[in-house]
Amino acid sequence: MDKSALQRARYKYTPKQPKLFTQSIQKLQLTKGSPTEPVSDKEKIKALFPHTYGLPTVSFSETSDTISYPAIHMGVILSGGQAPGGHNVISGLFDGLKKGNKESKLFGFLGGPDGILKNEVLELTDEIIDEYRNTGGFDIIGSGRTKLETEEQFEQAAKVCQSHGITSIVIIGGDDSNTNAAVLAEYFIEKEKGITVNGCPKTIDGDLKNEHIEISFGFDTATKTYNELIGNIMRDSLSAKKYWHFIKLMGRSASHIALECALATQPNICLISEEIAQNETSLDQIVKDIALVVAKRAEKGLNFGIVLIPEGVVEFIPEVKSLIAHLNTMLALNAKEYGVLDTWKAQYAFVVNHLQQKDKEIFVSLPTDIQRQLLMDRDPHGNVQVSRIETEKMLIQMVATRLEKMKAEGTFKGSFSGLNHFFGYEGRCSFPSNFDADYCYNLGYNAYLLAANKCSGYISAVSNLTDTSENWQAGGIPITMMLNCEERHGEIKPVIKKALVDLKGAPFAYFEKHRDLWAVETSYLFPGSIQYFGPSEVSDTITKTLELEHK
Ligand code: FBP
Repeated sequence: MDKSALQRARYKYTPKQPKLFTQSIQKLQLTKGSPTEPVSDKEKIKALFPHTYGLPTVSFSETSDTISYPAIHMGVILSGGQAPGGHNVISGLFDGLKKGNKESKLFGFLGGPDGILKNEVLELTDEIIDEYRNTGGFDIIGSGRTKLETEEQFEQAAKVCQSHGITSIVIIGGDDSNTNAAVLAEYFIEKEKGITVNGCPKTIDGDLKNEHIEISFGFDTATKTYNELIGNIMRDSLSAKKYWHFIKLMGRSASHIALECALATQPNICLISEEIAQNETSLDQIVKDIALVVAKRAEKGLNFGIVLIPEGVVEFIPEVKSLIAHLNTMLALNAKEYGVLDTWKAQYAFVVNHLQQKDKEIFVSLPTDIQRQLLMDRDPHGNVQVSRIETEKMLIQMVATRLEKMKAEGTFKGSFSGLNHFFGYEGRCSFPSNFDADYCYNLGYNAYLLAANKCSGYISAVSNLTDTSENWQAGGIPITMMLNCEERHGEIKPVIKKALVDLKGAPFAYFEKHRDLWAVETSYLFPGSIQYFGPSEVSDTITKTLELEHK
């Protein structure tokens, strides 16, 4: 395959490592911290994880001894949505493994967790790894969303590993995949399979973090990619002065991506789902608030602006959340009758007749496209796929209607022309920023060290990330200490607590302090494209969120 100039240049990039990791891997020893426990549901989690509950945190430090590592076979799985830097986790893992013992081998399971079930495996060699260093994407082995959760799957996974002599697995994934890693680790210990399982924190959504995991990988690059696009749109709107751009940003439930983009670009409006839920803000109020900002800017002759919308916002607006829940139940209960209706008119009438008055009022007030999207195919669990609801279009239509009303009342004298965008996939496979390239490489290198030291049920943790990379620290956090019990599809399950935007945290506080000014003035920032080379102050920047949370 031909290579772009940047791809060739990025092959030559050497990820920066903490000082600790620049010395021989044989000189690194594992130090155990104190035993840990989860913040809640201790007894339930202890009962579910008798072998991995209470494990200590671990860290690595220098030793004068020389440790020799036996040759091992490791397996690696990429799980869930793509996030920039996945290839570097794998190259860090590979390099660590080979430095530990050059006879060791790394196997990639193809297509995500399915690969371990179907025995689809690729041995990763120097040639393969070198093709993917510092590149975006997960295409080296592919990814998938299959969940490893049944005993049958665990047995099959063990069988496949044993057939390749694999004694250690690394699962690179988000909160669900790392929860599964913890369950699998526990199962393998219980059944004495001799296979360790550890995880790495991945997701562009930024919702896998806590006091020990400062950031999930991919968030840095994805937000920088969106920031470039948002900044470009801001400049366009500032030049043409005739459009309001409504930009939906990926991130599933959490609004971390939208908040980070707001901090980096200073738009006129950014909705934060967690705040909407806390204040129980209605859809009508959200529309009114946006229309008010449009009107205020119009008074100053500014008939343009930027609105950022988090992907999952509809699930946080109380009456829409309740409508979605009732639609899910109603459609599931009446699947047969509803399924035979083949015209929109009939489907609409059926839904309206089966909804309670309050839900009906909300449903009929929505634009037709949105009504249709709310009735689209459910996911395998019977839930509406919120990422496919075009909230950005819905808000444009509703704000336009509201402004027409205001115009008739004489409270809006400007013009309003809305354009919609959705940024998500654009940022998931960018070449990793220097931060992600470095962070991911070290997450992988560190994951090897965890396995080499027989740790199981840990998540690879590289911390102190607001300092220069030479001062980063490395170690492992027992996944059980990150678990709590939540209801999932009618069952109480141990899961890693999703980190939503903390409305008391520094990033939101900064946004809250400035947003009124950003709303009416034009305070746009133009971050430009990710810089891979050049002065450290432009090429090694970290996200505002990380800076505000930890500096
Ligand atoms: P992960 O949670 O697996 O990292 O996925 C993140 C994400 O990009 C979300 O932001 C988005 O809602 C979802 O994946 C889209 O899923 P798909 O890739 O299946 O379309």
